[in-house]
Amino acid sequence: MKVNQAEFIISAVGPSQYPADALPEIALAGRSNVGKSSLINRLIQRKNLARTSSKPGKTQQLNYYKVNADLYFVDLPGYGYAQVSKSKREIWGKFIEQYLLHREHLKLVLLIIDIRHAPSKDDQTMFAWLKHNDVPLVVVTTKADKITKGHWQKHVKIIRETLQMEKHDRMVLFSSELGVGKDELWQVIEQEIGW
Ligand code: GTP
Ligand code: MG
Repeated sequence: MKVNQAEFIISAVGPSQYPADALPEIALAGRSNVGKSSLINRLIQRKNLARTSSKPGKTQQLNYYKVNADLYFVDLPGYGYAQVSKSKREIWGKFIEQYLLHREHLKLVLLIIDIRHAPSKDDQTMFAWLKHNDVPLVVVTTKADKITKGHWQKHVKIIRETLQMEKHDRMVLFSSELGVGKDELWQVIEQEIGW
């Protein structure tokens, strides 16, 4: 995919604000601070279009980014951030669940996992829930630059086992810092939207 143009469209707080032009949507899910926004920036080669932060919990709406006139990346609020009140978390949960289950233009979810750690309970729940509901999904293990290359496969194995992934479940190893995995992930995305 050659990215000629990328722009922020809207921080949507409800379905009435979702774009109406029927382009395919690729959503990013993962715990707070795992690197979702950074991954979007790397895929579209813009330094800071998707706002990143060392403070978790920054993304609280569905942030839509349009790439060319081809597709949207939808940056979902991160889960598992303890500082957020329980009632607020429940409202987000419902909102995101509705989006993931019923948005007809959603073509693929990128479930972002930190390669350094075994997936959390929340990660495991999210993976199992997406699979159970037949939401097309690829696991992306990011921050690969934070461990030495010789350890990558060991970590990938732990992640696959902890999530109870099956052989055919897809995974891409990624680093937003280095750009590792960028071409491979674009291929998965393009395949999923039928290019
Ligand atoms: P929320 O929006 O709060 O849910 O966070 P997020 O998942 O969008 O994470 P974000 O992209 O803001 O990144 C969080 C922190 O991790 C930032 O300090 C990033 O610079 C850093 N980071 C993200 N991806 C990578 C990576 O691949 N390598 C390294 N070294 N740092 C990364
Ligand atoms: Mg973010």
